[in-house]
Amino acid sequence: MSTQLPISITVNGIAHQVDVPVRLNLADFLRHELGLTGTHLGCEHGVCGACTVLLDGRSVRGCLMLAVQADGCNITTVEGLAGGHGNGAGLSVLQQAFIDHHALQCGFCTPGMLTTLSELLANNPSPSEADVRLSISGNLCRCTGYAGIVNATLAAAALLRGQSA
Ligand code: FES
Ligand code: FES
Repeated sequence: MSTQLPISITVNGIAHQVDVPVRLNLADFLRHELGLTGTHLGCEHGVCGACTVLLDGRSVRGCLMLAVQADGCNITTVEGLAGGHGNGAGLSVLQQAFIDHHALQCGFCTPGMLTTLSELLANNPSPSEADVRLSISGNLCRCTGYAGIVNATLAAAALLRGQSA
C-alpha cells in the first residue's frame, strides 16, 4: 500500500486539492489523475524532454519530479498554452508557428518543445537562433532535424514582438 499525501496544485488555471501517492511522479499525475495526456513520457529518466511542463513559469521534467513536490505550485501543460498569447481560445502564436513552419512530424516531442520554448519567449522576446537552439538542447526530436522548430520559434518571436508593439 502506497502512502498518500494531500496536495494543492493549480494546473492550467484550475485548482485541485487531491491526495496523491508519495511516489507518483508529476507527469504520471498529470496524465493519469487529471487526464492531461498532452504531457508525454519518453525516456522517464530526464534525458528526452518530452515530459517538460512549466512549474511557476519554469520548465521542469515531469518524470523527475514527484507530484507531492509540486504542492502549492502553478503548473502549465501543453494543454494550457492555447490562447495564452492573446490569440483567443485558439492555438498560441508559437503553436500556430509550429504548424506553419513544419516544426513537427510525429508530434511526440512537441509538447515538451512547446513548453520549453514558451518559457524562452516569455523571458527573451528577441532570441537569436543560438538562443533557441540552446533552449531546446535538452529536448530530443527524432523527426524534424530541428530546423523547422528553430524557424517556427524565431517567427513566433517576431510575431509576438509585433503584436506587443
Ligand atoms: Fe522525462 Fe524523458 S520522459 S525527460
Ligand atoms: Fe517526432 Fe519530434 S516530431 S520526435
